[in-house]
Amino acid sequence: MEETDRKRRRLVAALIAAAGAVFFLGRFFRPMSRTAEVRLDVPREPVPADGALVYARSRVALVRDGDRIQALDLSCTHLGCTVTVTPTELVCPCHGSRFDLQGQVLEGPAQRPLKKLTLQETEDRWVVTA
Ligand code: FES
Repeated sequence: MEETDRKRRRLVAALIAAAGAVFFLGRFFRPMSRTAEVRLDVPREPVPADGALVYARSRVALVRDGDRIQALDLSCTHLGCTVTVTPTELVCPCHGSRFDLQGQVLEGPAQRPLKKLTLQETEDRWVVTA
């Protein structure tokens, strides 16, 4: 009987120690919070009516769609080439995929739309994050 109590106490102590260890380690090994990657931070310019501002080095286009402006990642969703912006669509020079100005696929081989990025508009800057 006394041996059973001793084993039970050891088991409870071990469980409490394990719970404490999980709590303690969990505080230190949490995944780091991800901050959004700034892809573009430029002085704000007007986006032409029915047009786009293209920032080739950042592979970002700010595309006007009526009153809305959206930021598109110019990385082709097929194999990653940089798409070019025309007045009516975006075209990939590598294998010919075509996208509309909202980034939706018009013609493959790309299957997925262009990635939309987060656009923040301050008083004097465009800030685009992934
Ligand atoms: Fe754009 Fe292949 S990389 S169509």
